[in-house]
Amino acid sequence: MSEVDYASLIPNNVDLASDVRLQRALEAWYPKYIDWWKTMGPEGFQDYEVYLRTAVGVDPEGWAKFGYVRMPEYRWGILLAPQEQGRTIAFGQHKGEPVWQDVPGEYRAMLRRLVVIQGDTEPASVEQQRFLGQTAPSLYDMRNVFQVNVEEGRHLWAMVYLLQKYFGRDGREEAEDLLLRRSGDVDRPRILGAFNEATPDWLSFFMFTTFTDRDGKMQLESFANSGWDPLARTTRFMLTEEGHHMFVGRTGVERVIQRTTEIMNENGITDPTDVVGVRKHGGIDLPTIQKKINFHYSVTLDLFGAEISTNAANSFNAGLKARFHEPRIDDDHQLENDTYPVARVADGQIQIVDVPALTAINARLADDFIDDCEKVMKRWNRVFQAQGIGYSLSLPHRAFNRAVGEFADVFVTDKGEIVPEGEWHDRKHEWLASDSDLEYILSLMQLQTTPGKYANWISAPRAGINGKPGDFEYVKLAA
Ligand SMILES: [Fe+2]
Ligand SMILES: [Fe+2]
Repeated sequence: MSEVDYASLIPNNVDLASDVRLQRALEAWYPKYIDWWKTMGPEGFQDYEVYLRTAVGVDPEGWAKFGYVRMPEYRWGILLAPQEQGRTIAFGQHKGEPVWQDVPGEYRAMLRRLVVIQGDTEPASVEQQRFLGQTAPSLYDMRNVFQVNVEEGRHLWAMVYLLQKYFGRDGREEAEDLLLRRSGDVDRPRILGAFNEATPDWLSFFMFTTFTDRDGKMQLESFANSGWDPLARTTRFMLTEEGHHMFVGRTGVERVIQRTTEIMNENGITDPTDVVGVRKHGGIDLPTIQKKINFHYSVTLDLFGAEISTNAANSFNAGLKARFHEPRIDDDHQLENDTYPVARVADGQIQIVDVPALTAINARLADDFIDDCEKVMKRWNRVFQAQGIGYSLSLPHRAFNRAVGEFADVFVTDKGEIVPEGEWHDRKHEWLASDSDLEYILSLMQLQTTPGKYANWISAPRAGINGKPGDFEYVKLAA
């Protein structure tokens, strides 16, 4: 069944009506979800109509419809990509066997853990972003953060469906817990570090959606080839939504850079490191943008887990979590005799060391992520070329500012030089924004609600959402 049933409380294309037990479990979870959404979702905007897209199918073309909706009435649904007949497991020790429709008993605990970790990130980001509406630089941007938020909510539904359908009582308990943890909470934090960081301002939001949602893409893509078919089909559809989140991030930062370079050119500021000059005219200076990149990129790299990991080897071997674009990789997809080069600390230096490829699955996924981020940097740097400003932004070294993995115990500069701990702390603000930088960014965050108008620190987007004109009212704030 691939038609989406929109008549029922929970829109779905999984024939929920035929599974009464599951339907009851999800319907019991629904009001708790709504409670969570109303308390932890976008603060202060629950009653306004927002121009949102809602998934109404899973076809690559035309899966969404756009229209005004109040967020608590958004139709969060359960949507899986169509089942592929005859699909076989593409990697690991079960390579060539038919994919599993049920949870293989031996991998139950591993799969549950993978689903819970992925599931936990979805509500976490909604919590992190809940105050951003109050300082939106335009109605266009306000609509975009809300769109990202409702889709992260849908991603939570996607994971909760898997837990409730396939993991019995354990799954139901995990589904409850997903609504109980809180981003940044001391007693009950979200599972992963980056999802407990604050997202207090819009530059942080654009960096988060550029880098951290891109980690999400990498993880989802590795699940999209999972030998456990329900996970593969669920994440395949989630990926189609993730594209917009990364678009919001990439173009958001691009628009900030555009505006900053305009301010520089309009005011004869030729030194790209002139912080005071740019701030005098209300822009976000280039060194601060670079420092925000350094922060969000490094905390996101931690999400990939330890570079050398037996857990990752096990979930690959088991056929549960693949590499990025697994089917396109030209090797035996089992890796028992292969090695992979990984950056490690050896003899007080960062060196590239060949390790058994199976243990380096996380390092490889991080490599693919880094490649993807490099492409984003190229796009951002085009703005400087177009504006005639001799500056470029870059990614810091992968070992910079890491709390997880090979580099957790060393202190590394943005260029990849290991330095003594004391020196690193003394020089920290060469690479990371200081409190006063962050306060300056916060001071710029003022709500702009006139349709078609943008805050001074960001330029207008090239095009509207769904072809809408520049002064379109994306959020109806007037009652
Ligand atoms: Fe998500
Ligand atoms: Fe996302």
